[in-house]
Amino acid sequence: MVWLHGRGWSRSRRVQVKHRHVGNRHLVPGIVADIVRNVVRDPPTARQLLFKQIWTDVKRFAAPNVSNVRAVDIEGLAKIVVYGMATRPDALVLCGLCKLLGCRTVFEIGTFHGDTAWLLAHNDPAVQVYTLDLPDPDAADRATFELSDPEYFAGWDRGVTFLGTPESERITQLLGDSAVFDFSPYAGAVDLVFIDGSHSYSYVRSDTEAALGMLSNRGVIVWDDYTHYPGIYAYLNELSCTLDRPIVHLLGTRFALYSRREMLKPPLESPRRQAQLGINH
Ligand SMILES: C[S@@+](CC[C@H](N)C(=O)[O-])C[C@H]1O[C@@H](n2cnc3c(N)ncnc32)[C@H](O)[C@@H]1O
Repeated sequence: MVWLHGRGWSRSRRVQVKHRHVGNRHLVPGIVADIVRNVVRDPPTARQLLFKQIWTDVKRFAAPNVSNVRAVDIEGLAKIVVYGMATRPDALVLCGLCKLLGCRTVFEIGTFHGDTAWLLAHNDPAVQVYTLDLPDPDAADRATFELSDPEYFAGWDRGVTFLGTPESERITQLLGDSAVFDFSPYAGAVDLVFIDGSHSYSYVRSDTEAALGMLSNRGVIVWDDYTHYPGIYAYLNELSCTLDRPIVHLLGTRFALYSRREMLKPPLESPRRQAQLGINH
């Protein structure tokens, strides 16, 4: 018990403050009860906010061949400043990588509204962006492999974010199914490939093979949604040990990345501390 006394102590101004320590173990009983109540009351939200998140963390921790690194472990990234929407933190990291690595040519598979294509072009006036999407909603019915997200085909305004902007002069919109698109004109010429089309295993495998063919000798491939789609997770964990360099997952984002050149700082933390943080590079 702690007694605080006001200046010019008087009985009426005496304040009694009880010291209270709260540790995690004090929270456990209440949280367990709250979880049970919220799961019973609202199962869809529990699935979305709790079970999906736990499953994502479990996969990340268990990943056999894709190790976890932090954005601050990428040499120089902490000093890069980019402009963009606060609601798109992953896209900002992508723009930071693009700037850091001095990428000149970017190929994005999966345009959608064109938010990321615009951000990339906006943040670096030297960048030329090629962005590929299906030609029309009907193309979804003729897709070569499994399409992962039917909701993307309800409306059709691909590239709407950059159309008519000054950045659009450096953005080339390409149309086609990525599984049969002719990527040969870009062979060996792309510094950053961003894979964000269909998230099924077969499409990600096909898109990755195309990306490896397009990559320049200093190039980087970034896959979106590595932690969220089972097909991407499975494929990248198979692929990682067959490449000259490992694929890593960038903690705090959904990204996995492969780089033809070394990007990571030498580890500062002890192996034990790295293991505690789930970092292993
Ligand atoms: C997640 S959205 C892309 C978002 C965009 N990369 C961004 O960050 O702003 C996925 C896009 O991939 C496109 N897509 C799906 N399957 C495709 C395929 N086989 N070939 C080309 N584009 C595809 C969809 O039409 C959709 O626009």
